[in-house]
Amino acid sequence: MPGFELFSDLERKEVNDVLDNGVLMRYGFDGMRKGHWKAKELEAELATTFNSNHVQLVSSGTAAVSVALASAGVGAGDEVIMPTFTFVASFEAIMMLGAIPVLVDIDDTLTLDPKAVEAAITPKTKAVMIVQMCGSMGNMDALSKICNDHNLVFVEDACQAIGGSYKGKPLGSIADLGCFSFDFVKTITCGEGGAVVTNNKDYYINADHFSDHGHDHVGNDRGAETHPFLGYNFRISELHAAVGLAQVRRLPDFIAIQKRNFTIIKNELARVPGVTFRTVPVGGEESYAFLNFFMPDLDGAQKVIEAFKINGIDVCWNYYQNNWHYIRKWNHLKDLKSLYPISSEVKKGLEYLQTKSFDQSDHYISRNISCLIKLSWTEDEVKLRAEKMAQLIKAIN
Ligand SMILES: Cc1ncc(COP(=O)(O)O)c(C=O)c1O
Repeated sequence: MPGFELFSDLERKEVNDVLDNGVLMRYGFDGMRKGHWKAKELEAELATTFNSNHVQLVSSGTAAVSVALASAGVGAGDEVIMPTFTFVASFEAIMMLGAIPVLVDIDDTLTLDPKAVEAAITPKTKAVMIVQMCGSMGNMDALSKICNDHNLVFVEDACQAIGGSYKGKPLGSIADLGCFSFDFVKTITCGEGGAVVTNNKDYYINADHFSDHGHDHVGNDRGAETHPFLGYNFRISELHAAVGLAQVRRLPDFIAIQKRNFTIIKNELARVPGVTFRTVPVGGEESYAFLNFFMPDLDGAQKVIEAFKINGIDVCWNYYQNNWHYIRKWNHLKDLKSLYPISSEVKKGLEYLQTKSFDQSDHYISRNISCLIKLSWTEDEVKLRAEKMAQLIKAIN
């Protein structure tokens, strides 16, 4: 991660195909295309990659989450359970539909604690959304069971975990609907883009129509297409899809590089007293996009981050202290800072954020350090980096 580090002639060729015929839109203009349908081709490649029946490309990972939820009928006043450790996109995508994000604690997998999920279920709960953060996963069997038992839609945000798997199934393909991002910093990038993955044909048809103004995509006269229901524009362009097409074909190579770099650093840090790692559920294979490790306490984690910064170890973060991925500093959500009025139902539904503490999540995120694994590092560079990281941590302990 990120795929842009290794852009090559493969991406250029796909983009040039699109520019040569000039059709930047994924639908229609059949005569002008000279046979190029990059979005359709990418959907087919992704369906194979994820061993899933259906893939709908959209304009971003955030759009993918909204489209996935809408496709399963999640909307006004419905509660969607999600983790405290994620990206702001998770609650944005829920709130865009007028639904209510219900944030619950994570466990040592760094995503949803099944016990916290179960405790948060109410008659209004419609869906549970796991976020496979930083290349790894939660306890999918336990979460699937909870969703089955309570008749809830299970959504899997695998935006940060493309290439990982659980019990042989690709992450993003396990729940009822999976979501991916191909934004600029993801393992597979197309600049901006995303995908909804599902084996449920009805959800897929809903996603197909909803992401293109409700068009039914029947026939080849766009003006004559009917609109079975309301939709919006979350389309991907052919240019973006072209880049993604070249990148997805390189995914196995990218994952192999991530795994090599990750393993070198992890093996080195495993020898440092006081350093521990997140739990990867039995049967889980990470995507190796990030290495997450724990220090004994927040003070230790802060010192490590400071030492890394001063000594040129980049792309490592303690999310407890920055505004990026953790509930603690999302005051705009807690205070409902919105450009437009928010429904009284959602306002009321989010009142819990004024008082609720997330002690178990704090316990993990305060001590956690998350390091991006780059694709462009050479093996020698990674070895040097790993040794330096270990030395710096030892000096603090
Ligand atoms: C876990 C997660 N979900 C969703 C998104 C949103 O993806 P996008 O930037 O493509 O909208 C991101 C982006 O970083 C993410 O990390």
